[in-house]
Amino acid sequence: MRVLITGGAGFLGSHLCEALLLRGDTVVCADDLSTGRLSNIAAFTDNPKFTFLQVDVSTGLTVPGHLDAVAHLASPASPPDYHRLPLETLAVGSRGTENALRVAEENAARFVLASTSEIYGDPTVHPQNEQYWGNVSSIGPRSVYDEAKRFAEALAMAYSRSRGVNVGIVRIFNTFGPRMRAEDGRVVSSFIAQALNGDPLTIYGDGQQTRSFCYVDDLIRGIVAMIDSSESGPVNLGNPIERTVQELAEMVLDITGSESAIEFHQRPVDDPARRRPDIKLARDLLGWQPRVSTEEGLQHLVDYFRSHAGEVSAAAGSISGAQFEGGPALSPQEPSALALPA
Ligand SMILES: NC(=O)c1ccc[n+]([C@@H]2O[C@H](COP(=O)([O-])OP(=O)(O)OC[C@H]3O[C@@H](n4cnc5c(N)ncnc54)[C@H](O)[C@@H]3O)[C@@H](O)[C@H]2O)c1
Repeated sequence: MRVLITGGAGFLGSHLCEALLLRGDTVVCADDLSTGRLSNIAAFTDNPKFTFLQVDVSTGLTVPGHLDAVAHLASPASPPDYHRLPLETLAVGSRGTENALRVAEENAARFVLASTSEIYGDPTVHPQNEQYWGNVSSIGPRSVYDEAKRFAEALAMAYSRSRGVNVGIVRIFNTFGPRMRAEDGRVVSSFIAQALNGDPLTIYGDGQQTRSFCYVDDLIRGIVAMIDSSESGPVNLGNPIERTVQELAEMVLDITGSESAIEFHQRPVDDPARRRPDIKLARDLLGWQPRVSTEEGLQHLVDYFRSHAGEVSAAAGSISGAQFEGGPALSPQEPSALALPA
């Protein structure tokens, strides 16, 4: 297959590029490097089956040659990133998604949208299944991301219904692993970087809010299964084992052997109380379920951060800590706790 991956130089995108190259596919990676990095794809830029296009997919997207599939992952994904890039986040969810859908339509290609558990907002249904419509603020600080993804889902379904595009939607729950940025403000990367730097681990709220953490290799297997299928979804992809944020902090201290303290700060607005995927559909339709335990996955990310010690210590001043897919939403009550990167 020849596959276009938008956002291919990002955390998840680079792992998807790698997985497809490994099985012999040809990959075109389109990325504007706004939150991604060339170092993520450095290991395969010399591969003749890999092409990198530096492009903002919200402004236009032309890919020479035939494509069999388009995986649309381009979007800032962590709160510090989408708060820094609010209009860009809305643009890539809307215009960027439409540009990617048009490319899929022109090529009669399979189109897979990387949507998010954030479309469920602060859920009133637990665990979250795909029938649940969500509890999302259209004007809150997180809305630039949540609503962009909800619009992207609507657009993908409209292209499926009215233009016959072979669309598949995956709703990704918190995923972590190597190639995360130490300062990206997501809870797992923040805790590990804080622990390795000997800084306090910052919990926002009482730490009893829950999250479910999926290791990147598992998640990528799920996306590849969705690319290969003709299911439209949406299909949840995530690890159904639920942990409190405090439990995560303790696991990180245990695995790193760090003596860092745990600090509690005020809970941000719109912070979901519980987050856990119902993955029955993924099991039934894709034969997919996670295999890597949270402990094992954390060990891999700790090893990766240890091998990038300079980057981790340089991030020390800009880690704000976080509890969900990304990190804390802007909190009017406590702006000083955010320390968002400029
Ligand atoms: N990591 C998670 O836990 C998670 C959870 C749910 C959904 N997702 C979704 O998965 C996708 C990838 O997330 P990630 O964690 O790898 O984030 P990331 O920030 O590492 O990757 C996003 C990539 O998209 C690129 N990008 C952003 N805007 C672009 C534009 N206009 N044109 C071209 N490229 C652009 C960035 O440079 C970056 O390389 C996102 O769509 C995100 O919403 C991720």
